Amino acid sequence: MAISFESLDSDIAGRCGKLKVGKKTIKTPALLPVINPHLQLVTPKEMQSMGVEALITNAYIFSQSGQYRKKALAEGLHRLLDFDGVIMTDSGSFQLSVYGEVSITNTETLTFQRDIESDIWVPLDIPTSPDSDRKTAERELAVTMQRLAEAKEVFGSDAPLAGPVQGGSFIDLRERAGRDVTDLGFSFCPIGAVVPLMESYRYQDLVRVVLAAKQALSPSACVHLFGAGHPSMLALAVAMGCDLFDSAAYALYAKEGRYLTTHGSFKIDELADLPCACTVCRTHTTEELRTAPDRERLLALHNLYVTLAEISRIRQAVFDGTLWELVDERCRSHPQLLSGYRELLKNTASLEKYDRVSKRRFFYRGDESCYRTEVFRYQQMLPRLLLGSRVLVTFGGGIREEFDDTLFFKPPFGPYPKELRETFPIGPCEIPEWDDAMVRKGCEGIKLLIESHKDCQFIVSCNPRWEKIVREVLGDIEVQQ
Ligand code: GUN
Ligand code: ZN
Repeated sequence: MAISFESLDSDIAGRCGKLKVGKKTIKTPALLPVINPHLQLVTPKEMQSMGVEALITNAYIFSQSGQYRKKALAEGLHRLLDFDGVIMTDSGSFQLSVYGEVSITNTETLTFQRDIESDIWVPLDIPTSPDSDRKTAERELAVTMQRLAEAKEVFGSDAPLAGPVQGGSFIDLRERAGRDVTDLGFSFCPIGAVVPLMESYRYQDLVRVVLAAKQALSPSACVHLFGAGHPSMLALAVAMGCDLFDSAAYALYAKEGRYLTTHGSFKIDELADLPCACTVCRTHTTEELRTAPDRERLLALHNLYVTLAEISRIRQAVFDGTLWELVDERCRSHPQLLSGYRELLKNTASLEKYDRVSKRRFFYRGDESCYRTEVFRYQQMLPRLLLGSRVLVTFGGGIREEFDDTLFFKPPFGPYPKELRETFPIGPCEIPEWDDAMVRKGCEGIKLLIESHKDCQFIVSCNPRWEKIVREVLGDIEVQQ
């Protein structure tokens, strides 16, 4: 297999892993900066010195360029761009989505990508607009799938081919596309046509289509999110199981005088100071950055540094098992991101299957934390507890001998036996002063326990402050002070 992926650490559906492309290996999650040969604000060589292991460029631009076509065919991309890492090429599908047509066929672009020695080739998929109707989405998906099949037929199962997942805004089409791409044997799967969603901040829709595609793909597939690269949304995307990103944002934003941060972008004229640790920001004042003759390049450098640092932070969070905390933090920077985050939390049951067993800690960060995978998984385990016939669930007290079993209570998880006091998630879970949402969620745990232990009698002992919630969730259970 020319392309293979190995996951080393995971958190939620996110992973840190190794992507092998031919003889080269890169660490994931990874950002592939977009290189435009006509406009290189930062050179591939400089990017490599910043830790970039892979980049993406558009084969269509090379194939249509009087200046570059011959050179690319004669020298190969690596020499032309002076970059010996992984180079992925896109086909021209982006032009297709913007201009409606391209003067190249599927096999022509793939032959060209092979001949310029690209490491990862993308067929001519059709990026269906998210606002297309079902008929259009189905028709375009059929063409995409036929081109993917053609790519495998013509270039063989060992060719380093990407298999884009399309299907527009239709969940079942995204699922079908994910299954079909997997059945065709693709192990490198970009999720396509999501740029318009991100450009208009439709993160809820983004989460829906990405999760649909992801769940239909093989867990061993490397998942690329086409055109994503704003640092504020990368943690969310990794949590959904995306491994690679490509983005021209660093350069496009720089051209418009925009400064990226992990919690949004700013017009450089709006900034009173430069809240960043990168070398550009530490060696320039705002005024100097604004008026520098090479301001576009400096902004591009900063934008790239910020995005790469966010990728590193995400890798560390996956390693530690603190990705939910990072997603929570990032998604509070924009109301539409918060909508995307809440959509993700609605899918806890399916995300739980990917999530790891133990983590370094669980920090409660508000109501949203009640819907995390760890809470769901813990409560799913409650029916398996072996209990005597009279059971006390105590919110604050100690063991009482007149009961066969005493369980303690830790919101938002619920009841737990003393043996689990130190283990994950009960032990390493840090919560602030109890609030209604976490106590209610914990009571749902008691409810699951009661429903699965029909022969036991349960009594809850709690402070009067919580009695109303206990009764709302558990009905006419016996409550003691
Ligand atoms: N770049 C951004 N979105 C897409 C897509 O859907 N397909 C391809 N090939 N490139 C893209
Ligand atoms: Zn900076």
